[in-house]
Formats: sequence, structure tokens, C-alpha cells
Amino acid sequence: MALLTVDRLTKRFEGTLAVDGISFAIGEGRCVALLGPNGAGKTTTIRMLTGLLQPSSGAIRLEGMKPGQDLRAWIGYLPQTPAFYGWMTGREFLVYAGRLCGLSAKEAYARSDELLARVGIGAAGKRRISGYSGGMKQRLGLAQALIHRPKLLILDEPVSALDPIGRREVMTLLGELKSETTVLFSTHVLHDAEELCDDVLIMSAGRLAEGGSLSGIREANRQPMMSLETEGDSRSKEWLEGWLKRLPAGFEAASATPAGARLIVRDLETARRTVIRELADADVRVTKLEVGYTTLEDLFLKAVAHS
Ligand SMILES: Nc1ncnc2c1ncn2[C@@H]1O[C@H](COP(=O)(O)OP(=O)(O)OP(=O)(O)O)[C@@H](O)[C@H]1O
Ligand SMILES: [Mg+2]
Repeated sequence: MALLTVDRLTKRFEGTLAVDGISFAIGEGRCVALLGPNGAGKTTTIRMLTGLLQPSSGAIRLEGMKPGQDLRAWIGYLPQTPAFYGWMTGREFLVYAGRLCGLSAKEAYARSDELLARVGIGAAGKRRISGYSGGMKQRLGLAQALIHRPKLLILDEPVSALDPIGRREVMTLLGELKSETTVLFSTHVLHDAEELCDDVLIMSAGRLAEGGSLSGIREANRQPMMSLETEGDSRSKEWLEGWLKRLPAGFEAASATPAGARLIVRDLETARRTVIRELADADVRVTKLEVGYTTLEDLFLKAVAHS
């Protein structure tokens, strides 16, 4: 069952069509990754979903919500750059957020303590936020988003500002949270999406380039590919440059990588024979030749390039 349904959602700023008539649905209990390059319209979409930005047109519907009801009561939101009052302690901030959401003082205190422990900063709850690290602030932001037990948790790039340790910690936490509530999170990092999500929405230039379950999208777009690396000597480089320009039949797409090329092929056996023969004829100094299947990254690059 769809928890959230978005129909032809559009946002136009003077001169910019930031979100261009996108439609999608989010099923209850799913974890959905919203992907797209810089400026694709992810934050604008999220800000409309959270009720912070008025759409130019289109509709957003949450299952069970009565007409005229405030969307925000159902949604927990962690912005791309969350702002805190540094002079407050973490606990004070959560109680304040809980009271704003309509919790009684008693409930707000109990829920704050429970969530501080839950996100792993229980011991720091009595310290001022100005002394928190980036990872601690992000966890506090997550606790704030969860304070009113939202049906839908929306996170705008929850790990992009963190160092590798903070990132791992927050990713683990998100992995736990996704079994408890419906989650929509945006990210640039495809690896993070693959690790966490059930469904993917790929945005490009305000449009939805691809959407559906991660496994379904992978299956539907799975193509054999080869990855080639050379020593990077001038002869190998020259050969590769020329070869990429006159790509032989049977090769669907090719892109240069720092040490070689990535080739999407029609038939693996034929392509493998062709590449090995040509490499030998040209005496190219190969360091690596790998065969496999396209990844979400290949699909992402294709979806973004075609829209
Ligand atoms: N308040 C605004 N006024 C005018 N243009 C805006 C405004 N907010 C966003 N835009 C434009 O809308 C487009 C989409 O921006 P948005 O922030 O939604 O992208 P994004 O996918 O979140 O990018 P990023 O990955 O960099 O966070 C951009 O071209 C941006 O310049
Ligand atoms: Mg953004």
C-alpha cells in the first residue's frame, strides 16, 4: 500500500524549473533513496514533501491524512544543513522540538531521553550542542526528526557532511531505523543507496529519470560489461583513445576511467575475444581486464546522461 503518493509535482522559481512534474509513490515500510546529481531537484522535492515549500502545481497525498490536515504531523525531517541553537543542550533541544510537535512536557522529556540513548549520544545529552562533533549533531538531528513518532522519515543527505567514522555510525543507525518506519533519503553516494534502500528514485534536471525497486531496476538494466586497465604508458593511452573513438560493433557504450576504460557490451563472449585480440595485436600493456555486469552507477550515469 502506498503511504505517500506524489502526482505531477512541480516547482518553478523565477527562471528555473527546479522540479518538473514528477509522479511517484512510496510504499509503507519501504526505504527509498532519492538520487541525482547536484541541482537535480532533490532538496526542492523534499522541501515540498515536508510542507516547507509551496508547490507551483501538483499534489502530495499521505495515506490516512484528512483533507486540510497538517502534513508535518506525519513527517519527520532532517534537512541537508540542520541548524541548532548551540547554547542549548541536546536534551533541551529535543524537549523543545517535542513541545513544538505538541507533546506534553512529561512525554517530551521521556521521549528525548529515549531517543538520545537510541541515537547513541545519551551521555552527551546534558552538554551544550556547540561542543558536539558533526556526527553527534547529525544524530541529534535524527533524534529530532523522530521525536513525534512520524510515519515517514525524510532525510536530505544524512551522511554527506560526515567523516568516514560518523558516516558508518549514521548508516548503521539508518539501517536499524528502516525496519521501524518508512524512510526517504536523498544522497549522491550510490554505494550508500545500494546498502540501505529497497526502492530508488533517480532525478535529473527536475525530472524523474528512473524509479522502482532496486532489485527490479538492476534486473531490467543488467548488461554485461568489461573493465580494462593499462599501465598508462603513452602507447597504451594512444591506442585506447583511438579505440574508444572507433568502438567496434558489439560494444554499446564506453567511457574512459582514470586507468583505462569501462565498456558496456552486447555479447560478452564476442566482446571478450575482440578485446583480447586487439590488445595483443597492438601490444598494449594491460594490467587488468575484468568482466561482470553493470552496476547502479552505470545505470545512474546512463539515466542522467539521457535526460
Ligand atoms: N529558492 C530558490 N530560488 C531559486 N532557485 C532555486 C531555489 N532553490 C533551488 N533552486 C534551483 O533549483 C534547482 C534544484 O535545486 P535543489 O537544491 O533542489 O537540487 P539538489 O538536487 O538538492 O542539489 P544538491 O545535490 O546540490 O543538494 C537548482 O537549479 C537550484 O539552483
Ligand atoms: Mg540538495
